[in-house]
Amino acid sequence: MRPILALLLLLLAAMAPSAAQAETGYDLWLRYQPLPEQRRAELRDEARYLVAQGSSDRLKVAAQELVRGMSGLQSGQLAVATSVDAPGAIVLGTPESSALVASLNLPLATLGTEGFLIRSVTMNGQRATVIAANRDVGLLYGVFALLKRAQLGESLRNLDISDRPKLQLRVLNHWDNLDRHVERGYAGQSIWDWQKLPGYKDPRYTDYARANASIGINGTVLTNVNANADVLRPEYIQKVKALAEVFRPYGIKVYLTARFSAPIEIGGMKTADPLDPAVAAWWKAKIDEIYAVIPDFGGFLVKANSEGQPGPNDYKRSHADGANMFADALRPHGGVVMWRAFVYAAENPDDRHKQAYTEFEPLDGKFRDNVLVQVKNGAIDFQPREPFHPLFGAMPKTPLMMEFQITKEYLGFATHLAYLGTMWEEVLQADTFRPRKGATVAKILEKPVDKGAVTGIAGVANIGSDVNWSGSQFDQANWYAYGRFAWDPEAKAEPIARDWARMTWGNDPAVVDPIVSMMMRSREAVVDYMTPLGLTHLMATGHHYGPGPWVADLARPEWNPVYYHKADANGIGFDRTASGSNGLGQYAPPLVRQWGDRKKVPEELLLWFHHVPWEHRTKSGRSVWDELVVRYDRGVDEVKRMQAQWDALRGKIDARRWEEVRDYLAIQHDEAKWWRDASIAYFQSVSKRPLPVGHAAPPHDLEHYKAIRTPYAPGSGE
Ligand code: GCU
Repeated sequence: MRPILALLLLLLAAMAPSAAQAETGYDLWLRYQPLPEQRRAELRDEARYLVAQGSSDRLKVAAQELVRGMSGLQSGQLAVATSVDAPGAIVLGTPESSALVASLNLPLATLGTEGFLIRSVTMNGQRATVIAANRDVGLLYGVFALLKRAQLGESLRNLDISDRPKLQLRVLNHWDNLDRHVERGYAGQSIWDWQKLPGYKDPRYTDYARANASIGINGTVLTNVNANADVLRPEYIQKVKALAEVFRPYGIKVYLTARFSAPIEIGGMKTADPLDPAVAAWWKAKIDEIYAVIPDFGGFLVKANSEGQPGPNDYKRSHADGANMFADALRPHGGVVMWRAFVYAAENPDDRHKQAYTEFEPLDGKFRDNVLVQVKNGAIDFQPREPFHPLFGAMPKTPLMMEFQITKEYLGFATHLAYLGTMWEEVLQADTFRPRKGATVAKILEKPVDKGAVTGIAGVANIGSDVNWSGSQFDQANWYAYGRFAWDPEAKAEPIARDWARMTWGNDPAVVDPIVSMMMRSREAVVDYMTPLGLTHLMATGHHYGPGPWVADLARPEWNPVYYHKADANGIGFDRTASGSNGLGQYAPPLVRQWGDRKKVPEELLLWFHHVPWEHRTKSGRSVWDELVVRYDRGVDEVKRMQAQWDALRGKIDARRWEEVRDYLAIQHDEAKWWRDASIAYFQSVSKRPLPVGHAAPPHDLEHYKAIRTPYAPGSGE
């Protein structure tokens, strides 16, 4: 072959789109790759052209997305028209913006401001699909719902779908600092390039907004809960405004974290006492200033009197006093305060598990109605497994917001494959028994405490500057699943995993089935190799990378893993029953009865609530010591199984993403083994028991594991 021709062919091959093309993961679940030939032909017939009626920016981006998505899936440009005069139209509009939609008299009354309806209709004698909503943002959600169906290869005929979100505020919390460091971030730097803002709006911000809108996220807190007052300075408000402008068409509001001591730090005041009228006036002026620049600013998220952050307690005021000061200033603008309940104090010798409840429960009914108290899913801190937080159900007069952590601070950072959907489903489906059986956490979140009261959920983002956004291909699934649970807290983890897998990796069941099965077992594997049987917080100091169950020398008692496992020569576990800290007493009586009984407590929570002798019989008939070892091994074996399943997908998935996952799984396997070996070596030094038959001794002695140092692991110094 002549060299020029060969070069040309090579170039053409490089340009041709194919499944084998190197994908980076940048496109997330919005890849819009051409469907298989037959389905593509059907789709061309079902969706031949778009008629979008209206002129708003939201309608415009909804139409753009529909054209982009359908064109990609059909492998041909979707036409745009102004009237319905041939079959296969997609009609987009609200009754106000579109005469066509108005003429259909659709049942939109129950869909609220964000819901949508998709229906197959006949219009002007032609077969058409209408996407309708009361407001434009619903149209955007409707477009993404239709595109999802198309991506999944499903028919767009005979549709009659309506949907609306069950929670009002569905926000991401970015723990991003102004220097672009992301606290507990494993996906590169912050995506907010503050230095180039407001002049340069990275197109990535638009893709971020598209991805979030596709899963219904409607708010984003741009800055870290460990807040910096500088973001409230005028020059930063201009930068925030630029981001708000990018996000607005996508239905996403911006929020900021408010540093409680800002009046001192940037206001030149002597105090930040919330009951001091001058302090309240300073905040009011600051809030007015923000709204003058960003009229739809969402409000503030506040971490106060927690882990060294300033707060109202510094002035002997309550959390309600602090929150209400902000609420009063925000109310005229329609803003809210999300006030975190994540508090525990070094000076307080009581069980850390109890402290948030002790402090917040008495404040029920004392917050203004535009305050939401934001509560982590469990009482300790985003561990691989925790029982639900006892505050859920215990503050019936206060809007409570769920806080999940999407970034996997305690579940293996970016490299471990751990699908969090199963964990979130477990928490959301947990029955609080408050006021009665059936009051699940999901139901409590969904039901406004009063007519018109606000509801919400927050997720600590796992998004950064990495090309794949989340640090790993599979961590994208957690961002996706978070949005789906925020939209519907009663959703199920398995179908969400399946949707994600199909949109992210392709519709071939030979690919999807193994991926979904890996995902569905993955979180339990992490629990097994890190913290089985209800153990918790055994991670190494500071960065939380790797095991540190022996750590006992940190200043605050509750920073030491030994505080949580309480292993000694006789047994292991934290007694939270009435004979111990009685943290259990913060739950409803039926749970106190069940969880307080060693025989009835679910084994996954055994050592969370009980200190049991090493020879305590578990359900398997094994002693708790033997069962621990069995579970550590089970976790490592599960990772091996995931590796084998992934290996079998070689060639069925584009090479770059496949190799990345393969390498990450190898890291996960090594680290699971490290966790297993180090934990067994340590607990055996305490229990002085032999390993059960068939379970190998750790290859090194305990000193070896204790000597491992990883001072530059992400999270050091946080
Ligand atoms: C964890 C995490 C911190 C974070 C804190 C919080 O403790 O390690 O980095 O600031 O949670 O949620 O406020």
